[in-house]
Amino acid sequence: MRAIVRDEYTPTADALRLRELPVPVPGAGQVLVRVHAASFGQDVWHVMAGLPLLARPAFGLPRPKQPVLGGDLAGIVEAVGDGVAGFAIGDRVLGRGDGTFADYAIARAELLAVLPDAVDWVTAAALPVSGSTALNAVRAGRVREGRRVLVIGAAGGVGHLIVQLAVDAGAVVTGVCRPEADDFVRSLGAVRTLDYGFADRPADADGRYDIILDTGGRRKLRLLRRHLASDGTIVVVGGEGGGSVLGGFQRSIFAPLAAIGSKQRMVGLVSTDSGPVLAELAALVASGRIRPRVHATLPLERAADGMRMMRAGGVRGKIALEL
Ligand SMILES: NC(=O)c1ccc[n+]([C@@H]2O[C@H](COP(=O)([O-])OP(=O)(O)OC[C@H]3O[C@@H](n4cnc5c(N)ncnc54)[C@H](OP(=O)(O)O)[C@@H]3O)[C@@H](O)[C@H]2O)c1
Repeated sequence: MRAIVRDEYTPTADALRLRELPVPVPGAGQVLVRVHAASFGQDVWHVMAGLPLLARPAFGLPRPKQPVLGGDLAGIVEAVGDGVAGFAIGDRVLGRGDGTFADYAIARAELLAVLPDAVDWVTAAALPVSGSTALNAVRAGRVREGRRVLVIGAAGGVGHLIVQLAVDAGAVVTGVCRPEADDFVRSLGAVRTLDYGFADRPADADGRYDIILDTGGRRKLRLLRRHLASDGTIVVVGGEGGGSVLGGFQRSIFAPLAAIGSKQRMVGLVSTDSGPVLAELAALVASGRIRPRVHATLPLERAADGMRMMRAGGVRGKIALEL
C-alpha cells in the first residue's frame, strides 16, 4: 500500500516521503480500514515534529513509533480483529486511526463510528479530531441558548466547528479571525467578527462574554478575563507557537488555578475521542445542522503540500486528503 512516512521527527514537511508498505493486520479489538479520505489538524504536525517534548514519550522514543502520519480517517472496513463487535467488513466508518495517510490504516474499534450514507468521505474525514474537540469544548463551556460566546480562532479546523455547534445550541457567537476570514466566519452563523487585536482593546460596550473558547493566539488569561462576565467561563483549547518543551500547554495546566477565588471558571481542555461522540457528530452533519468546511482536498502524494498549507495559516476549516 502507499503511505506518507517520516522516519525521524521533523518540523518541516520536506522530509515526508511516499513509500510502499505492507498492509497492516488488525489485532484484537482493532479494525483495518480502507482509507478513502484523511485530514490534517495541528495535531498531525505535533506528531510529525515530535513537539512539544512533553508529549514525545507518547509519540515514541528515540524515534516515532508510527512512521506513517495521520489520525483522522473515513473509509470502508476491510477486516476486523478478534473481539470486535459492531463493525463488519464493508461498513462505511469514520474515526481515529493510527497512520491514516495511507491506503489502509488500523483503528481501535472504540474510536470508530458508522458513517451515514448522506455524508461523503472528505466531509467525514474532516470531523474526528476537530469535531470531537469542538464538541468537548462547547460542553466544557456549558454553551447554551442565549449565551454570548467568543470563539478565538473561529476560521480554524476546531474553531469553525465550535462556531457552528455553539450557534446550533442557540448561542450568540462572535468569532475572532483574520479580517479576510470575516465572510467565512459569518457564513458559519457568527453575528460578527473581531480582529486579532481585540484583547488589547477595552471590553465590549454591549457586555462581556459569558463563554470564551480559545483555539488560537495563546493570549494571557488575564487579558481574556477582561472580556469575560464576572461568572463567565474560559475554555483553553490550544494555540500554536508555544515553547518546544511544553508547547504552551502550561496555559491549560494552570487555567483552573487562575480562577481560584473568583466566580469565573477556567478550563484547560484535554479532548478525548470516542465512538459515541463521533456518531453524534456524523448525525449532526447528516441532518445538516453542522457542516465541516474543507479548504482544499489533495491527493495522497501531495500530503507535504497540505502540511505546508496548514502551517502557513490562512486556512478556512480543514485540509483533506482524498485517496
Ligand atoms: N485541547 C485539546 O485536546 C486539543 C485538541 C485538538 C487540537 N488542539 C489544539 O488546538 C489548536 C487549534 O487546532 P486547529 O487544528 O483548529 O488549528 P488551526 O486549524 O490552525 O486553527 C487555529 C486558528 O487560530 C487562528 N489564529 C492564529 N493566530 C491567532 C491569533 N493571534 N488570534 C486568534 N486566532 C489566531 C488561525 O488563523 P490564521 O489563519 O490566522 O493562522 C486558525 O484559524 C491547536 O493548537 C491544536 O494543537 C487541542
